[in-house]
Amino acid sequence: MCGIIGVVCQEESRRIAEITVNALKRLEYRGYDSVGVASVSSRGIEVRKAKGKVDDVVRIKRIPELTGFLMIGHTRWATHGPPSDKNAHPHTDCKGEVAVVHNGTIKNYRELREELESLGHKFVSETDTEVIPHLIEEFMKRGMDSFSAFKAAIRALHGSYAVLAIVKGERKIYFAKKDNPLVIGLGNGMNFVASDIPAFLDETDRVIVLKDGELGYVTPEEVHVETLEGNVVDVTKRTIVVTWKSESVTKGGYPHFMLKEIHESPVAVEDTINGMLSDMETLTEAVKALAEARRVIVVASGTSYHAGLYFHELLLSEGYNSLPIIASEYYTVKANPSDVVLAISQSGETLDVVQAVKSFKTKGAKVISLTNVIGSALARESDVALYMRAGPEIGVAATKTFVSQLASLALLFSELTGSFKEEIKKIRSILERTIETYEGISKEWGEELAKKSNAYYLGRGLGLPLAMEGALKIKEVAYVHAEAYPAGESKHGPIALVSPGFPVFFINVDKSDLLLNNHAEMKARGAETFAISSNVALGADHEIVLGLSDFLSTFAVAPIIQLVSYYAAVTRGYDPDKPRNLAKTVTVE
Ligand code: AGP
Repeated sequence: MCGIIGVVCQEESRRIAEITVNALKRLEYRGYDSVGVASVSSRGIEVRKAKGKVDDVVRIKRIPELTGFLMIGHTRWATHGPPSDKNAHPHTDCKGEVAVVHNGTIKNYRELREELESLGHKFVSETDTEVIPHLIEEFMKRGMDSFSAFKAAIRALHGSYAVLAIVKGERKIYFAKKDNPLVIGLGNGMNFVASDIPAFLDETDRVIVLKDGELGYVTPEEVHVETLEGNVVDVTKRTIVVTWKSESVTKGGYPHFMLKEIHESPVAVEDTINGMLSDMETLTEAVKALAEARRVIVVASGTSYHAGLYFHELLLSEGYNSLPIIASEYYTVKANPSDVVLAISQSGETLDVVQAVKSFKTKGAKVISLTNVIGSALARESDVALYMRAGPEIGVAATKTFVSQLASLALLFSELTGSFKEEIKKIRSILERTIETYEGISKEWGEELAKKSNAYYLGRGLGLPLAMEGALKIKEVAYVHAEAYPAGESKHGPIALVSPGFPVFFINVDKSDLLLNNHAEMKARGAETFAISSNVALGADHEIVLGLSDFLSTFAVAPIIQLVSYYAAVTRGYDPDKPRNLAKTVTVE
């Protein structure tokens, strides 16, 4: 949650504002409650910030007119204090000579604030972040140089943070990282620090991923990193060149990232499968661990949890002992050394998942992770790190990464059991054909669902995780209240809500014989039924019969339910890339 960017240049110019605004647009998916920047120029520090979306705040606050030799910027997903102008970052000290942007949560901010207020510091916001510039100010007042004061401030914090700080008159951006992502970009005559790589991808592809407990500063020419304990770290060997293309973080002619990313699914899946097969050593290590496990604990949140449920269904079909768990409920499971944990997270930064994994590790369980971000917190916590290669996903709603998760997990299962070897090779072309053939119908279905307030998504076996994902997606982007159930369970209560015209979606890719009865039960109550069926038609009011095996049908279902949600959102006049109250990466409890 929250996106942060820092840019430091040799020359004082407006270019700094141009780069920062571009970065803020790329980071907006991390939070869109408020936006702000602070520049340092020969005139001092200037802060411009307000509640609202990037385009609006940039225009109203005339951010492109700012000049300077460095700038920090922030897009906020509110945690402490509601979205407002005064809670927007950057926050400053009493004299406006220190400015800070922060992503994370400072747990001891109340104590720190009371202490600082007793020393005469004046606070203007309700945020936890504001203690940081005042701490720096306080330590500088006591005679420390700015870097020492920054380090002392960071050491006083309990909680999670990716922090950038700037000080009047200095051509340096101080940074610190714990439990929230922070990466350095190495440019020519300028350097960058940001929450993630897309923020500066137009400027450089040379990146250093920072580790927890590291802090330091960047100047236009230098990157200095040390540990919290003060040991200097040589990061030159950690420079990686990313292969993501700058075009992959623009809309490329599509009206929304969500639509573009659905269309990117076929390539994302192919890159993912080829990437995993090109690192056979890691894949084999993961397969060996799963084969030897007494129990596989599958842990994830949201969409990734649905991908995890899909893997769980596959494991069950071959008699493996698997336990799927929503990450935030990890404490209900007693793990032991004979367990293997499979942790799935697109971002690799979701706090619930990282905390679950840390806890399972203390019980001796081995951890395999599946993420889309190289060097993410989850990857670093795991014994075996598997990577998808879906490319950056900017839309808040997971789309191509969900399909890539399904494909990676199918590949893992195939390597474990020897099944689906030939079918996996067809996934890319199935996705291409599905999107081409069914986008029109998905749009019609989305327009129909846009008229409704509620919907059910029903499935059995492998269809159930997809039904759950369908319901989540339409809630997330179109704000249609939807619930998913195992189809057989629907008659034990949910059917009470069904009256003529109530929409019920059937994901008919497993146990079609049983779903025929469940469909008849819903029709008998006047439901308006929609079905995506592998082979056996249910006779729904609206039905797509894919003519594919059940296994391949699961892949075709994913873009269809995503397109239905996308078009329902657009029909209702919502921006599917920025669903209200949501952030792409959830790094709070
Ligand atoms: C998906 O559309 C959502 N944005 C959300 O449920 C997401 O899948 C969840 O927060 C987990 O994120 P992760 O995969 O990065 O861990």
